[in-house]
Amino acid sequence: MDTSTPATSPDEPVPPTGDAAPTPRNGDASDRSRSGTGYDTVLGRLLVERGFLSIEELQDCLRQLAARTPPPTLPEVLLHERLVTERQLQRIRSEMETDRASQHIPGYRIIKKLGAGAMATVYLAKQISLDRMVAIKLMPRRFSSDAKFIERFYREGRAAAKFNDQNIVAAYDVGQSGDQHYFVMEFVDGETVHDRITRSGRIPEREAIEIVRQVASALKHAHSQGFIHRDIKPKNIMLSKGGVVKLADLGLARGVSDREAAEAEAGKAYGTPYYISPEQIRGLREIGPAADLYGLGATFYHMVAGRVPFSGKTPNEVMNRHLKSELTPPDHVNPQLSSGTAQVIEMLLEKDPAKRHQDAGQLLEDLDSVARGESPVHARGHSDLGAVAAAIVASPSTPPPVATEVRSASGGSSISPVLVAILAASIVGNLVLMVVVLSK
Ligand SMILES: Nc1ncnc2c1ncn2[C@@H]1O[C@H](COP(=O)(O)OP(=O)(O)OP(=O)(O)O)[C@@H](O)[C@H]1O
Ligand SMILES: [Mg+2]
Repeated sequence: MDTSTPATSPDEPVPPTGDAAPTPRNGDASDRSRSGTGYDTVLGRLLVERGFLSIEELQDCLRQLAARTPPPTLPEVLLHERLVTERQLQRIRSEMETDRASQHIPGYRIIKKLGAGAMATVYLAKQISLDRMVAIKLMPRRFSSDAKFIERFYREGRAAAKFNDQNIVAAYDVGQSGDQHYFVMEFVDGETVHDRITRSGRIPEREAIEIVRQVASALKHAHSQGFIHRDIKPKNIMLSKGGVVKLADLGLARGVSDREAAEAEAGKAYGTPYYISPEQIRGLREIGPAADLYGLGATFYHMVAGRVPFSGKTPNEVMNRHLKSELTPPDHVNPQLSSGTAQVIEMLLEKDPAKRHQDAGQLLEDLDSVARGESPVHARGHSDLGAVAAAIVASPSTPPPVATEVRSASGGSSISPVLVAILAASIVGNLVLMVVVLSK
């Protein structure tokens, strides 16, 4: 696909707007019409900033401009005085155009930067025609020459615009200005879950359940339409001031593999590797809804435990732990956590996607149960009974727990103490039998 000349049908990418003016040649009409305007000021400032000119030399050139009629252009004077070369001027001009395009999206007035992630920058802007605030994500320019990425960017952007769910940040528009591709979306006045964790540490269990419930509802809607988010994490979950939870970046095409995206986060405090599913790390071709459930489970864990499920010094170390390390149950980190919530989180964080909730609907059922103070329906009884029994055999002197439910260190589900006792007795019996048989 030729990205410089996209098709013009309403279903196709928006054509270049021409807002990024063509780079003027030395002393041509474009330079001349801009002479003595802000253009000269910006050009002069950049040349001084880059060390091509001293401030005195610039002032001298500007005096020459003012003295002559008709006034020459600043580049003409600079070249005449041999202060810069044609090549240097070209480079500075192209920098100026880049700056202009990134700040100018037709139809919108950029107000301020809202934040930046590993790959893009998001601005608060006003959509002039509808007089409303929006958020605009500017995609990295390095993707402008990646035809496949651009194609997916528009295709997924159009599809995402069809979502109609109050828990999904609405997609309004995708377009191109110069070589800058952008994504316009609903502006969420609030903070991200990441901001919230950074601000106040652990999120109270009830509140966390409600956040996860709303994200699960968004996922149910998205998954039913064939969309997988692939990047569920605290930074992509927004908490609006009105109390509505909004899932961001759904349907936003990514220009890199999940693993690359995770590695791009190296060194950041809260990065993608902390929430990525084992199947995404393995780079499996078929990534299904279960990957989003894992990301949501890791986010849930972080919210209630106050720390991520697997940490490490490098992204690779973190990813290896997702693949191989046993999870420390969240209620071991935060003993105040209800066993129901801990069971749900552990099921979401199962390494094998087949062992997680089958879909977001099942997760919603479990969250409703734990919110009512009941045991989850689906996360119950999926624990590794053998591991529980083995643990009990290993420490036969440990008195049975008083609570009506016991939780395994690895599995996270509840089983009755009677069942545990039977299992333990059976294993001990078998061991005794084995020893007797072997010793004969
Ligand atoms: N729709 C929105 N409304 C308000 N603020 C937003 C919106 N979308 C994003 N932001 C803000 O912009 C920041 C950057 O978002 P972006 O999606 O580029 O990166 P990220 O999600 O933080 O990280 P990553 O690049 O790893 O996905 C967010 O952290 C958030 O603070
Ligand atoms: Mg984001």
